[in-house]
Parts: sequence; C-alpha cells; structure tokens
Amino acid sequence: MPRPYRSSMTPDLATERLLLRPLELADAGQVQMLFPHWEIVRYLANTVPWPYPPDGAFTYYRNQALPAVERGEEWHWTLRLKSAPAEVIGSIALLRKENNNRGFWLGLPWHGQGLMSEACEVVTDYWFDVLQSPVLRVPKAVVNVASRRISEKSGMRMVAREEREYVSGRLVTEIWEITAEEWRARRQGRRCVPRG
Ligand SMILES: CC(C)(COP(=O)(O)OP(=O)(O)OC[C@H]1O[C@@H](n2cnc3c(N)ncnc32)[C@H](O)[C@@H]1OP(=O)(O)O)[C@@H](O)C(=O)NCCC(=O)NCCS
Repeated sequence: MPRPYRSSMTPDLATERLLLRPLELADAGQVQMLFPHWEIVRYLANTVPWPYPPDGAFTYYRNQALPAVERGEEWHWTLRLKSAPAEVIGSIALLRKENNNRGFWLGLPWHGQGLMSEACEVVTDYWFDVLQSPVLRVPKAVVNVASRRISEKSGMRMVAREEREYVSGRLVTEIWEITAEEWRARRQGRRCVPRG
C-alpha cells in the first residue's frame, strides 16, 4: 500500500544515471570519507567546520539535517550511481531558507560528468511540482564556476550580489533565481525539442 504523503517525508528519486535516496544517519560513515576535501568545502558556507572533525558528518546529520527534515523544513538525499547503488557519491538538499533553497556537493572522482546537473533537474522538479514552491533561490560564490554553470544552464537569473562568508573566507556572492512559471516553461520547451 502506498505510504501517505507528508511534507517532511523525503521520497526516493531517480535520473538516467543516478539514484537519490533520502539521507539516513547510517550514511555518515561514507560521507565522512568523501566530503572533507578542500576542493569540495572551499566555496561552502563557513558553517561547515574546517578542519573537518572526525565526527563532522555524523554530528551534522544527527543535530541539524535530520531534525530539519523531520520538521518539514529541509529535504536531503544522498546520490548514488545506478551501477553501484551501495556507494554514496555526493549529496543534494532542498531548504526552506531565505535566498538559500538548494545545496549540493559531489565526491571528487565523479566531478565533471554532468552528474550534478542531472540531480538538480529532478530535485528542482520536486521543489516546484511536489512542494509547490513559487521560486527557487540559491547563493553562489562568483569564483565557483562549476556551480554557477549549473544555474546558468538551468535557466536561472542572477538577481542580487552581496558578500558572504565561506570556508575559504569572505567572497563576492551572486543570488540566482528561477520561478515556478519559468521552470515549467523551460521544461515544456525542452520536451518540444526534436531529438536526433
Ligand atoms: C559544483 C559541483 C557539485 C558540480 O558537480 P559536477 O557534477 O561536476 O557538475 P557538472 O558536471 O554537472 O557540470 C556543471 C557545469 O560546470 C562545468 N564545470 C564542472 N567542473 C568545473 C570546474 N572545475 N571548472 C569550471 N567548470 C566546471 C561543467 O563543464 C558544466 O558546464 P557545461 O555543461 O557548460 O560544460 C562540484 O564541482 C562540487 O561538488 N563542488 C564542491 C561543492 C560546491 O561548491 N557546491 C556548490 C555550492 S554553491
């Protein structure tokens, strides 16, 4: 029997190459091995402790991420390749925070293969279609070229510029946004593009 939908319940999602599984505390061990690298943390908010403590992933999931999921304020998924579903390769989250609605990171061996672009499509669909949010806003350090490209490619607009504190210090930041209407129009356009 299908489980009744609750806004605090995070569903399994999938893309062509990826499985997105709701975050569990048991994922912390794998994340602890994968996440603490300078190239991953440098452009994340300075709420990420650095140097990363040995229990950093466990503590963050237990004290912050999972309680926020329970409150229906955040939705967290681990990313896995369909070809190796037991292995966590990264993470993506949706957040009901002002100007900060989506965050992600990917383990270094999987960078540059279009995987996060793929994950963003399905998670952003969820933000608009299931959570019925009117707008998605994300902050990005200007120097974070890969992350900015994901915003550009998905039809987002830069709406504000400010400075924010990151693990690597104070950096110029752009706020990118897309409305539900714009997202749906873009999706419709993509479906109409003839293939081959
Ligand atoms: C941001 C991040 C998740 C991107 O993941 P990814 O799967 O490698 O991204 P994609 O392969 O989907 O690439 C997205 C775009 O960025 C480009 N890109 C990827 N890595 C890049 C790099 N190091 N430098 C410049 N451009 C890069 C890609 O070419 C692609 O653009 P294109 O389609 O025009 O070629 C990954 O770099 C990461 O984990 N970074 C550290 C954490 C982080 O900064 N998170 C975001 C905070 S706002």
